[in-house]
Amino acid sequence: MKLQGLFLVVVVVIFFLSYTVLVKGQHQPRKDCQTKCGNVTIEYPFGISSGCHYPGNESFSIICKEDKPHVLRDIEVKNFNHSGQLRVLLNRSSVCHSDKQGNETEFGYSNLTLDNLSLSANNKFTVVGCNVLGLVGTFDIIKQNYTTGCVSLCDQPPLENGNCEGVGCCRTQVSFPSDRNTFLFGSAHVPGLPSVYNFNPCAYSFLVEDGMFDFSSSEDLKNLRNVTQFPVSLDWSIGNQTCEQAGSTRICGGNSTCFDSTRGKGYNCKCNKGFDGNPYLSDGCQDIDECTSTIHTHNCSGSSTCQNKVGHFLCVCPSGYDLNATSNGCVIKEKPVYFGWTQIFLGTTIGFLLVLLGVSFIKHRLRRRKYTELRQQFFEKNGGVMLRERLSRAGSSNVDVKIFTEECMKTSTNGYDKSRILGEGGQGTVYKGTLPDNSIVAIKKARLGDNSQVEQFIREVLMLSQINHRNVVKILGCCLETEVPLLVYEFITNGTLFDHLHGSMFDSSLTWEHRLRIAIEVAGTLAYLHSSASIPIIHRDVKTANILLNENLTAKVADFGASRLIPMDKEQLTTMVQGTLGYLDPEYYTTGLLNEKSDVYSFGVVLMELLSGQKALCFERLETSKHIVSYFVAAMKEDRLHEIIDSQVMNEYNQREIHEAARIALECTRLVGEERPRMKEVAAELEALTVKTTKHKWLNQYSEDNEQLLSGHILSAQGDISSRGYDSIMNVARFDIEAGR
Ligand SMILES: *[C@@H]1O[C@H](CO)[C@@H](O)[C@H](O)[C@H]1NC(C)=O
Ligand SMILES: *[C@@H]1O[C@H](CO)[C@@H](O)[C@H](O)[C@H]1NC(C)=O
Ligand SMILES: *[C@@H]1O[C@H](CO)[C@@H](O)[C@H](O)[C@H]1NC(C)=O
Ligand SMILES: *[C@@H]1O[C@H](CO)[C@@H](O)[C@H](O)[C@H]1NC(C)=O
Ligand SMILES: *[C@@H]1O[C@H](CO)[C@@H](O)[C@H](O)[C@H]1NC(C)=O
Ligand SMILES: *[C@@H]1O[C@H](CO)[C@@H](O)[C@H](O)[C@H]1NC(C)=O
Ligand SMILES: *[C@@H]1O[C@H](CO)[C@@H](O)[C@H](O)[C@H]1NC(C)=O
Ligand SMILES: *[C@@H]1O[C@H](CO)[C@@H](O)[C@H](O)[C@H]1NC(C)=O
Ligand SMILES: *[C@@H]1O[C@H](CO)[C@@H](O)[C@H](O)[C@H]1NC(C)=O
Ligand SMILES: *[C@@H]1O[C@H](CO)[C@@H](O)[C@H](O)[C@H]1NC(C)=O
Ligand SMILES: *[C@@H]1O[C@H](CO)[C@@H](O)[C@H](O)[C@H]1NC(C)=O
Ligand SMILES: *[C@@H]1O[C@H](CO)[C@@H](O)[C@H](O)[C@H]1NC(C)=O
Repeated sequence: MKLQGLFLVVVVVIFFLSYTVLVKGQHQPRKDCQTKCGNVTIEYPFGISSGCHYPGNESFSIICKEDKPHVLRDIEVKNFNHSGQLRVLLNRSSVCHSDKQGNETEFGYSNLTLDNLSLSANNKFTVVGCNVLGLVGTFDIIKQNYTTGCVSLCDQPPLENGNCEGVGCCRTQVSFPSDRNTFLFGSAHVPGLPSVYNFNPCAYSFLVEDGMFDFSSSEDLKNLRNVTQFPVSLDWSIGNQTCEQAGSTRICGGNSTCFDSTRGKGYNCKCNKGFDGNPYLSDGCQDIDECTSTIHTHNCSGSSTCQNKVGHFLCVCPSGYDLNATSNGCVIKEKPVYFGWTQIFLGTTIGFLLVLLGVSFIKHRLRRRKYTELRQQFFEKNGGVMLRERLSRAGSSNVDVKIFTEECMKTSTNGYDKSRILGEGGQGTVYKGTLPDNSIVAIKKARLGDNSQVEQFIREVLMLSQINHRNVVKILGCCLETEVPLLVYEFITNGTLFDHLHGSMFDSSLTWEHRLRIAIEVAGTLAYLHSSASIPIIHRDVKTANILLNENLTAKVADFGASRLIPMDKEQLTTMVQGTLGYLDPEYYTTGLLNEKSDVYSFGVVLMELLSGQKALCFERLETSKHIVSYFVAAMKEDRLHEIIDSQVMNEYNQREIHEAARIALECTRLVGEERPRMKEVAAELEALTVKTTKHKWLNQYSEDNEQLLSGHILSAQGDISSRGYDSIMNVARFDIEAGR
């Protein structure tokens, strides 16, 4: 029983040991292996006894006979080479005339079997003799047979030595496929040619490494200087897999690299540059001390001294000298500067300047820090934290607002340069900016009263960012690090509708078709904002100066600075009256109650401007017609609409459309909000004009109270500013009256 247990332990131990060897595959020789055979050092993967050579049989097994190492049982090895080469001695093959007549007994040949070694490319098959033919071949029962050889012809001893080009000696490259390892080679005198017995009794053939045989015609033709064996180079490699295939089973040790064998199968190892030793041992490759080595010499010259480092070496110069990298010698450093008054003066000046620089730097840093703090304060004050929170809550799904830094804004507007101002108005100043990605944007300094509005402001930014309508100027983001928040919009190239109608910048080349299309687009947009948007939005400041045109004269409604969301449950909203004189809904003005009909009124004014080409308020018109609505009402009543229509617009074909449009404009500007059509209806009516002239439903129902109120409240309000002149962009009067309280 005890014996059995012991046996089991032994089996387990043996199994474990063989397991580690097999699995890790990194076989290493025993520590007590014989490393010398005669004068030749034997290095792993070659070895003399089992456990000392790389497993996988004969190729790496060395037999030491008479102090000479032999591989493949009887091939003598001259030396081993880590790079995968082995220099062995192979017997020559010879055949001799049996008599002076020149009769030859047979074709003399040798049989060579290399097993898992292969013939290197740097060997030559060489034939020595006159009138001889030498052949070398590899024969196989299944595979293709290959044969090559050469002929040497001469009736008398050649005159030249050392030339093995077919006179007394010939040679040829053996380039059979690398998987062949059995060869036959031999030679014979060519029958029928004159006898050369007296100076060349025997023909010789052999394999020899390049450069290891120099033909001597006087000696070699006689007896090949009695040399029977020639050095031949053989290739060897580990296994039959490439480095990649071998993977972790590779036996290349530390500080070494694996490379695929030239044989076409297996791999070899080599020490890295600067290392030397046996790369097949786990710790074989060791640093070369170039400074002391006689083989790997350093090139430090002159007064520089060599300093060994792992893997390389350095040339070091004494202090006061610099190394010349090309010659690795030392050169004297630049002469030190003499100490004089000039130097003292210079030193003091430089020192002083440095101190000054340091102080200003610190100041700058402090100022910068303060500035950064201020920006952070503004950011918080302007609701940045709230916006960030909302953005993160909303996810990236539908909200696309970028938060820009103050720095970015400043650089993109060239420091809020005056030349970058696009317009100034009640809603703030608008700059043209160029973002780092070269896109052009409009940057608006928003107008924000007190902190209580912050939440609303943020809500609006988020809301606007969600409007994705082709006729609405898209908001791209905002910057909250400034005292006044900045809003970043897409840049619309072609100015405002106001400029096109009244400005000097553009020749008003807008045709009736353009104007009608713009009206339809604006009406559609407002209708969308009122009804289709997820939360109804009232623009509150619809005016020609807020309608931008792009290069195709497509309308883009801008400036939602005053816009308000309508809570779903409340039809009307009591807020501070905001808007622009001339466009302001009189009902909203008097009551302070806001609803979507206020936008309808403003739109009516815009439509009138489009029709007449006149400004909303014009003090050059008659006392009673200063406001465009009264102007229109008067003209309609006196049936002289054609007089007030822009001359560029009216022609004989569109009179009916223009009348219809004028009627719609009047409907929109009815005094009582209730009586005004909804924006959706307006948009539909206008659209219908483009198709055909439609029968309308509010035919000629125009109440006079409109006119009455207009000339009352609104015009009296504008009386204060009339002395300053009126420009709806430059000086927008705002009425901030607390209504309903
Ligand atoms: C070993 O080298 C020495 C000196 O070079 C030489 O005398 C000796 O014959 C060599 N021994 C063998 C076995 O080659
Ligand atoms: C090589 O393997 C054969 C069997 O495959 C075995 O007879 C022979 O002894 C082995 N030779 C060496 C040197 O391991
Ligand atoms: C040749 O090598 C393979 C594996 O590399 C081995 O299995 C085979 O026994 C070897 N043959 C000889 C004759 O050494
Ligand atoms: C090994 O053989 C290669 C190729 O023939 C040669 O470049 C290298 O110098 C040899 N190395 C040694 C140590 O003999
Ligand atoms: C080479 O020739 C010698 C003497 O003729 C012989 O003893 C030896 O076995 C031969 N070697 C081979 C590998 O044939
Ligand atoms: C040599 O060859 C010739 C012609 O083939 C023959 O007559 C002669 O007998 C041969 N000599 C010997 C010694 O075999
Ligand atoms: C050459 O040697 C191999 C093995 O040693 C043997 O099988 C083959 O028959 C020999 N060929 C000749 C032509 O002697
Ligand atoms: C190669 O030669 C051998 C005998 O020399 C012959 O048996 C064999 O069929 C040949 N192989 C081919 C592929 O011709
Ligand atoms: C070659 O061998 C022969 C006979 O064995 C001998 O007479 C001759 O002196 C040897 N020549 C040389 C150069 O060693
Ligand atoms: C490599 O040799 C092994 C036997 O030693 C053999 O099973 C395997 O198929 C060979 N792989 C290749 C790619 O030749
Ligand atoms: C690599 O070479 C360094 C320097 O000779 C040596 O200290 C280290 O042990 C080597 N690494 C391995 C894995 O042998
Ligand atoms: C460095 O040495 C090279 C060769 O000796 C010389 O041509 C070169 O001028 C030297 N460079 C310096 C910076 O001394």
